[in-house]
Amino acid sequence: SGSTPNQKAGTVERFSSTGFILAAIGSSVGLGNMWKFPYVTGKHGGAAFFLLFIVCLIVVGLPVLLAEMTIGRGGRGNAAVSFYKLTGKKYWSWLGLVSVITAFLIMSYYSVVAGWTLHYTVESFTGLLFRSGTDFKSKFELFASGYMPLFWQAVVMLVSGWILARGVSGGIEKFNKILIPGFLIILLVLMFRSLTLPGAAAGVEFFLKPDFSKLDAESALIAMGHAFFSLSLGMGCMLTYGSYVEKSQSLGKATLAIGFGDLVYALIAGLIIFPTVFSFGLEPGEGVGLAFMALPVAFSQMPFGAFFGGLFFLLLAIAALTSAISILEVPIAYAIHKWKWSRPRAALYVTVVCFLVGIPSALSVGGVLSSFVIGGKSIFDLVDFVTAYILMPLGGLIVALFTGYAWKRAGEEAGLSGFWYKAWMFLLRVTSPIIIVLIFLYSVGIIKL
Ligand code: PFF
Repeated sequence: SGSTPNQKAGTVERFSSTGFILAAIGSSVGLGNMWKFPYVTGKHGGAAFFLLFIVCLIVVGLPVLLAEMTIGRGGRGNAAVSFYKLTGKKYWSWLGLVSVITAFLIMSYYSVVAGWTLHYTVESFTGLLFRSGTDFKSKFELFASGYMPLFWQAVVMLVSGWILARGVSGGIEKFNKILIPGFLIILLVLMFRSLTLPGAAAGVEFFLKPDFSKLDAESALIAMGHAFFSLSLGMGCMLTYGSYVEKSQSLGKATLAIGFGDLVYALIAGLIIFPTVFSFGLEPGEGVGLAFMALPVAFSQMPFGAFFGGLFFLLLAIAALTSAISILEVPIAYAIHKWKWSRPRAALYVTVVCFLVGIPSALSVGGVLSSFVIGGKSIFDLVDFVTAYILMPLGGLIVALFTGYAWKRAGEEAGLSGFWYKAWMFLLRVTSPIIIVLIFLYSVGIIKL
């Protein structure tokens, strides 16, 4: 009993051990790896940036990742209540509430981009995208300026909400078990396609042969911010997933598996995108438009391009969906506990409200609300900026300080002692807070590089 789709509030829900690893990898591998990572890497010098990203992932990302999962499993509660349960201090749960709000806001615009990937999947497979010319920039702008993005955003919200209504093992775990292997197959097909394109070697070289002269302090901070986003940290997501993990599972091993998984996917994403970009003479630092405006040029010119283009966008869509459900679970878990709702009811309400809150973001990328600008930013950019650069580092800082200073039994729960415990504590007490504060000061413009 306990795992029927209609779980009542308070029923114990748990992941199986592989289910948890898959779900956590599903969360970390997302638009960050497939859409953001390639263009950020392209902009900041290719291979050297990639190396820096690996260092940040290990030094800042993994310790905080382990801390989040440990808090969740130790407190057995959502992103707010776990902090309180572990210390008995109310103000910690107020701080934890920041993550719940961050996750809610991130979902409101992440679902918009996830919706774009669905639209592009359909348009590619049907060949519509490649008919009538190759001006993909105008095509994207035309799409974004209308109301279609709203429709696709609604689809993403509905599918995510429906999966989450089914519960932890019958929903999150089950769908990750189906989607992740499918994802891996598509990934390998596309990597093979892209590495065998004429001129692919130049792209591989750009991505894997470091030129350290291209690095500066700014790239370091961006690499750290990205490591954070890529591992889904600072918004209670890994904490919430951690609360569903059995006591017998090793969180240390899970940390390594998730970190390794995220890195491998970033590597393969780079090996898909850069060879394609170089083979067709595109610009690697193209920015946000790389996936939606530049890559279609390549697909339109390769044999069976509609098929490979469709696969590419399907890959993005799957990656986005497995991340989206992990983000939306944060406020849903909160609502179940807070208002004593059943899971399906909480899923329904949170999904609907989050969709409504996301509407302005969807309509502000070239749409009717695009002229509504605050501080030089559209609504979409503003929500992205505030969450990814202000609230997420804040959430990460709270996790690091809580585990490093406030909660005395973290080592026990994480299963660490001796050298590894000391190293973990040093990273959480000293290294991570300093680095997180630096990223924060840089992104809000207080320090300039
Ligand atoms: N890690 C995801 C990605 O790289 O796209 C994004 C993400 C998922 C961020 C879940 C935060 C989160 F809680």
